[in-house]
Amino acid sequence: MKIQENVSLGELTTFRTGGAARYFASVKNISDLKIAVRFAKEKKLPFFILGRGANVLVSDAGFCGLVIKMEIRGIEVKELLNKKARAIAGAGEEWDSFVAKTVKRKLCGLENLSFIPGTVGASAVGNIGAYGTEVKDHILFVEALDTETMKVKKFSNKECSFGYRESFFKTKEGKKYIVTRVTFSLKKNGALKTDYKDVLEFFENKKIISPTQKNVREAIIEIRKKKLPDVSFVGTAGSFFKNPVVSKRKAGALKETYPNLPFFLSGEKSVKIPAGFLLDKVCGFKGYKKGNVGTWENQALVLVNYGGATTKEILDFADVMKKKVKEKTGIDLEMEVKVIK
Ligand code: EPU
Repeated sequence: MKIQENVSLGELTTFRTGGAARYFASVKNISDLKIAVRFAKEKKLPFFILGRGANVLVSDAGFCGLVIKMEIRGIEVKELLNKKARAIAGAGEEWDSFVAKTVKRKLCGLENLSFIPGTVGASAVGNIGAYGTEVKDHILFVEALDTETMKVKKFSNKECSFGYRESFFKTKEGKKYIVTRVTFSLKKNGALKTDYKDVLEFFENKKIISPTQKNVREAIIEIRKKKLPDVSFVGTAGSFFKNPVVSKRKAGALKETYPNLPFFLSGEKSVKIPAGFLLDKVCGFKGYKKGNVGTWENQALVLVNYGGATTKEILDFADVMKKKVKEKTGIDLEMEVKVIK
């Protein structure tokens, strides 16, 4: 494995902005990964793990440490008794190809997470979620390299401390671990989740009464294509902010001013409200454009680099949105996208 110098990161992220990595290594197995980590340690440099770059924004000045591009691959599927199955995938596997493989074998669980850009490792670190499913619901174990002891540790689902777009691996203590492999628990011909509004409407319109798993995957892909920009053509990282969790009291007060405000229960006293609604219906940002940056025409929560934007322009644009939401609702939006600097 070769450690490269001054590698431009822009094209390795879906936002397509930002500077270069001082050092860069593509790792294809655990021994490569150990070499890369030792290199960073010897040089006393910070390191950053890059998957598909679908949820990151690289600073215009670049990253002064080592960027480790996770390319550990391999998929293994084991069908067990009672229709249960395990699917084990390397952290560098492309997420949607992995989901497609599970659907092809009629192993249910991940179909609602179809067409999300990213890698298997990032799916666990960020606990990706969409259309009523979070990946944590199907993760059995996560294996990760402890960069202090240089040993691989196996974490149970509980030890991963998953939360909404959160996991132990995002915490201060969890940062020393690099996810290498994830084991998912799936079920042959298992139950399907079709109760998310967009999915229900999709099947109603198509007059499909008992959708199959394949139907669900196709529906999710079509819904996402309609609502969200395709990262192969458009510079974006999907939802830019997280949906804020607020007290029921706060949501009730907001609902008086905005009667159509949707909300979802999140714990006993709190609710999650869509940041997209606040940015669109409350602040009028849907389709808003300034210079090379804007929000997507069908989803105000999605920021887009319309070509030639810098990371600073995107962050400044996001700051304007954040301030307006705060001014109008008192809510502090938190970024979902991670800035590498
Ligand atoms: N809405 C608006 N205007 C907008 C956008 C949304 O009024 O411009 C309203 C919608 O009408 C709907 C509600 O907000 O009532 C929720 O919108 P949507 O179903 O599009 O979902 P979201 O909450 O904006 C979340 C995830 C997405 C995921 C979708 C579908 C977060 C931050 N985002 O978006 O995940 O695909 O649900 O489950 O939780 C991502 O994380 O990058 C991502 C795309």
